[in-house]
Amino acid sequence: MSDTLTKLTYQTFQQSKNYFGLAHKILSTRLMNLISPSENKATPIPSEILLKLQGRLNNLLEVDWQDAQNDVYPESLLFDNPWEDFFKYYPMIWFDLPQIWERAKQKNYQEFSREINIEGYPSYYVQNFHHQTNGYLSDLSANMYDLQVEILFGGSADAMRRRILAPLKESLKVFTDVPPTQRRVLDVACGTGRTLKAIRNTLPQASLYGTDLSPAYLRKANELLSQIPGELPQLLQANAEELPYLDNYFHAVTSVFLFHELPGVARQNVINECFRVTKPGGVFIICDSIQMSDSPEFEPMMHNFYETFHEPYYRHYMTDNLVERLEKAGFENIETQVHFVSKYLIAHKSV
Ligand SMILES: C[S@@+](CC[C@H](N)C(=O)[O-])C[C@H]1O[C@@H](n2cnc3c(N)ncnc32)[C@H](O)[C@@H]1O
Repeated sequence: MSDTLTKLTYQTFQQSKNYFGLAHKILSTRLMNLISPSENKATPIPSEILLKLQGRLNNLLEVDWQDAQNDVYPESLLFDNPWEDFFKYYPMIWFDLPQIWERAKQKNYQEFSREINIEGYPSYYVQNFHHQTNGYLSDLSANMYDLQVEILFGGSADAMRRRILAPLKESLKVFTDVPPTQRRVLDVACGTGRTLKAIRNTLPQASLYGTDLSPAYLRKANELLSQIPGELPQLLQANAEELPYLDNYFHAVTSVFLFHELPGVARQNVINECFRVTKPGGVFIICDSIQMSDSPEFEPMMHNFYETFHEPYYRHYMTDNLVERLEKAGFENIETQVHFVSKYLIAHKSV
């Protein structure tokens, strides 16, 4: 296929996912208003903001396309979608909705089934984030998670995750004396493994590691990552506040969509731990939601996010100074980028 045709296919496909996400949200909101009406806390989004948002999405897709053209990662990654999960679990998302509406209406934010073991987790974690049934602690939640995130971001979640790949690849160049097979990369709070999959495609020879608190999400990550030929990333259940690794062990550490789900103190603890395990000369890359400091015009959307989803720490996150936190831990030379509704902090540990 010619480049122009491939690009058009990619853009059209992404746009269809965006429309699909929008249609799902409209339909599910109408259904909720019909079956289980509740107080609407969402602020209407002005049309000029929606236009700006569309512009940002188009820019994200352009950068994604360009990075593939520049061989940061293979073009095939642009078309990597969890199809099997979509056909298997999309109906489950609809079946789960009435429970979600009821929990949201009753303001039940820490509701877990009896068979779910909630012992030993930090209390801030034992939550129905996004009103999810059994929070992050069931296999069904892990199976539906990627689809839910795709719907939320109109099919652009992976394109946002991929924005860590160019700075990651670039930063590893300082380790000229370390063979590619001996470069170690850790993804903190790896969830279902989609970021690790993208990293594996970008750095086929590197030693990859992933940690998360959820055994169910790690099982799902293992299922996804074991389909890829080559060395299997090492997955470990661990609290990111106490990483089970030696000091100065990793050439790079990444973390995607974690920080907005942590209270301030835990946010600092995780950053301190990431500093501890990063090698001098190494990099720590965060991808998370935009904040007020970089995107004040999107305040109504950020407001809607914590009002309508259960995101107990997001309001604090919106104005938290992550650069200050990174510097406090010891990181230097911190670069910030924004793509669509995500921001990126690329922080270095000096030699
Ligand atoms: C929004 S999800 C992001 C998952 C994944 N990084 C992604 O890109 O989809 C947040 C993840 O953080 C994990 N998590 C939350 N608090 C954690 C902690 N203190 N230590 C380790 N993992 C944590 C959750 O289990 C969940 O998998």
